[in-house]
Amino acid sequence: MSFLIIAPGLKVDSWIKQLRALEPRLDLRVWPQVGDPDEIEFALTWNHPPGEFNQYKNLKCIASLGAGVDHILRDPALPASVPVTRVVEASMAQSMSEYILLSVLNYCRHLHAYHKDQSRRKWQPRVPLPAHKIRIGILGLGQLGADAARKLCHLGFQVGGWSRTSRKIPGVSTFAGNEALDNFLSQTNILICLLPLTPATEGILNLTTFAKLPAGAYVINAARGAHLVEKDLLKALETGQISGACLDVFQIEPLPEDHPFWDHPQIVVTPHISSLTYPKAVAPQIVDNYNRVKSGKAPMHVVDIERGY
Ligand code: NAP
Ligand code: GLV
Repeated sequence: MSFLIIAPGLKVDSWIKQLRALEPRLDLRVWPQVGDPDEIEFALTWNHPPGEFNQYKNLKCIASLGAGVDHILRDPALPASVPVTRVVEASMAQSMSEYILLSVLNYCRHLHAYHKDQSRRKWQPRVPLPAHKIRIGILGLGQLGADAARKLCHLGFQVGGWSRTSRKIPGVSTFAGNEALDNFLSQTNILICLLPLTPATEGILNLTTFAKLPAGAYVINAARGAHLVEKDLLKALETGQISGACLDVFQIEPLPEDHPFWDHPQIVVTPHISSLTYPKAVAPQIVDNYNRVKSGKAPMHVVDIERGY
């Protein structure tokens, strides 16, 4: 049973090292050096070329290298009967929560403005926004959103969260479904997107959504670039409906050099690093799934292809 890594443009040396350390006899191939396609039964992937999986007639599992699977499900020729799995790992939630806390505190303590002041040698104290007066709303209460919600609660913020189905998290006001979205938004000063990218969530950060937030709200997007209608954010910043944004993901990555976000004074840009997949932490669950599939069992962390996550 051969194992294929198919991640064009990504350095996979440390994946190979970790996978081999756990399973020394693994018949590991790295795309495009595939060998006989009929021997490939397990694929670990990030941004595969569309249609590619159709040539692997004996494929039994397509494993995402990350938490998101939109890069797999967007392939119109994806073989329908092969299960797709994703990464579910505590270190990814921890890393994402660190990023979210950093972005929230950066905003509340005006760090972005102090960086600019420092470059101009300007001494200008600003009043911090106290945690207990700030209402944070998290779109998505899954592995990442729920962890961030709990940690923000511990810091004393008022935290709300929105999900598709009803969720309960101690200390967090939860809202479920489209009918609850407006109510959720009306109570949110800092809007954080941690949703999977699906047809239902694409473009959710748009002018209509922004208009439902209290004026001057702040936006953090650490999910996918396609959640945000980028021109709508620029408009909302211009009118003051949105006072600033911290963005880790973009419609086009790497963010093009001439993109207006780069030098926008109210936008913080980071290069899709809010939560990285560490091969050492994640390889054990990939190898575990490979062995499950090899012994005829269903893999863990299978996504619902219809639902999109
Ligand atoms: P997850 O565990 O699958 O959780 C997804 C959450 O979103 C769930 O609470 C789900 O609701 C909710 N949701 C999905 N569709 C919805 C809809 N139409 N309306 C309302 N709520 C909806 O996913 P996760 O592990 O937290 O990851 C979320 C996303 O973060 C990933 O898909 C990936 O795109 C992104 N991500 C980004 C980075 C980065 O470095 N920037 C790193 C890792 C992940 P239910 O609870 O009702 O199912
Ligand atoms: C990263 O973006 C992931 O989906 O893990």
